[in-house]
Amino acid sequence: MNSIHPNSLLSVPTGPLHILHISELPSATTNADSTPIVFSLVIPTYNEAANIQKIISVLSSLLDESIPGNYELIVVDDDSPDGTWKIAQSLMSEYPQLQVMRRQRERGLSSAVIRGWQAATGDVLGVIDADLQHPPHVLLQLLQAIEQGADLAVASRHVEGGGVSSWGFIRRFLSRGAQLLGLIILPGVLGRVSDPMSGYFLVRRRCIVGKILNPVGYKILLEVIGRSKVDKIAEVGYVFCERKEGESKVTWKQYVEYIHHLIRLRLSTGLLGQFSQRFGFPIGRFIRFGLVGLSGVFVDMTVLYLLSDPTTLGLPLTRSKIIAGEVAIFNNFLWNDIWTFADVSSQQQQGRQRLKRFLKFNMICLAGLVLNVLVLNLVFNFVIPNRYVANLIAIAVATVWNFWVNLKLSWRVTQVK
Ligand code: GDD
Ligand code: MN
Repeated sequence: MNSIHPNSLLSVPTGPLHILHISELPSATTNADSTPIVFSLVIPTYNEAANIQKIISVLSSLLDESIPGNYELIVVDDDSPDGTWKIAQSLMSEYPQLQVMRRQRERGLSSAVIRGWQAATGDVLGVIDADLQHPPHVLLQLLQAIEQGADLAVASRHVEGGGVSSWGFIRRFLSRGAQLLGLIILPGVLGRVSDPMSGYFLVRRRCIVGKILNPVGYKILLEVIGRSKVDKIAEVGYVFCERKEGESKVTWKQYVEYIHHLIRLRLSTGLLGQFSQRFGFPIGRFIRFGLVGLSGVFVDMTVLYLLSDPTTLGLPLTRSKIIAGEVAIFNNFLWNDIWTFADVSSQQQQGRQRLKRFLKFNMICLAGLVLNVLVLNLVFNFVIPNRYVANLIAIAVATVWNFWVNLKLSWRVTQVK
């Protein structure tokens, strides 16, 4: 590719973020010399202008010596204000194995790594920080572990030869605390490696092909272990060096995201998650949809009270109920649009698209109401002669209807540009 367009940037792979996955290689993909590329190393960057040249040069000389021509370096930069991508791009003529992706519409470490892997052509996929905190020479040991049959090779601070250079008590405590919490919530994932927080590892493509990788949070390794079928894991000790240039991007937000990530993985790999995968039923979305529905009940009640109660406006009941119902539908639509289906609606943000979703939602909910009345009558008259139990069943049926049809019609993933 480089020979056709010298120094051109890799385009960002398309497709919605909530169903990110790595594909099988088309067939024997080859580089310019027609030797197969075996190893693709992604280097995620955000404001690493002071480090990028050094890391590229060190990695290149290391790999040129061990697997000349058989690797590619993929810098994935999130449009850094300090122009990291531009510097990386200017290095491409000097380092023919280097590729650069500049992302302008998406952000975040995990999704950067996955996008890089999506563009990669190697059988072995890897990731390393750009700030030289991950010692590059460890890469050769990681590669060796893969050659010797490991599916996943992780650089670890917590095995022999590993450590942190000069962390204070608080930082060690936070790091270990996070790990402990993870072990409690997800023992089956975090228990498999000594350093589940590592952002320095290699994995065989075939282990993650087709698995949907969720780009939440900072810790992509959890996702890889939690959702892929890695069998043999190897660990190599390394000392996490201090940063010399630039600054860390970690804030309190990453801790919150981390916990969110653990819970998500827990839910999706547990029994419910297996059910939802097996039958293609998005359980998490359904729970959110249900919670939004519950909020709608309160809105409906409140509006009904404000309009029809003798102590307030005292309007006629039917008129009040129609308004209350519509306000509740509007409330539910808003929350579903910004929360339940946020990933879909963020891709279709135009006012017209939103209005269309709202109208569809309205129609579907009205049909849901008809269904509700129908089921209530059927159950009450022929199955369980208790109006409240019958009503509960009717509400459940209508909720599933509302959810499923809205999922398929209102918040449909379409490939819009
Ligand atoms: N593209 C992109 N987008 N890159 C990012 C982003 C982002 O939003 N945020 C951070 N990065 C890049 C940084 O430029 C750096 O190369 C790397 O990701 C790690 O970021 P740091 O901010 O330096 O993280 P750290 O020093 O706290 O490292 C910790 O997290 C790493 C990543 O999981 C440690 O736990 C490491 O072991 C781990 O590799
Ligand atoms: Mn760092």
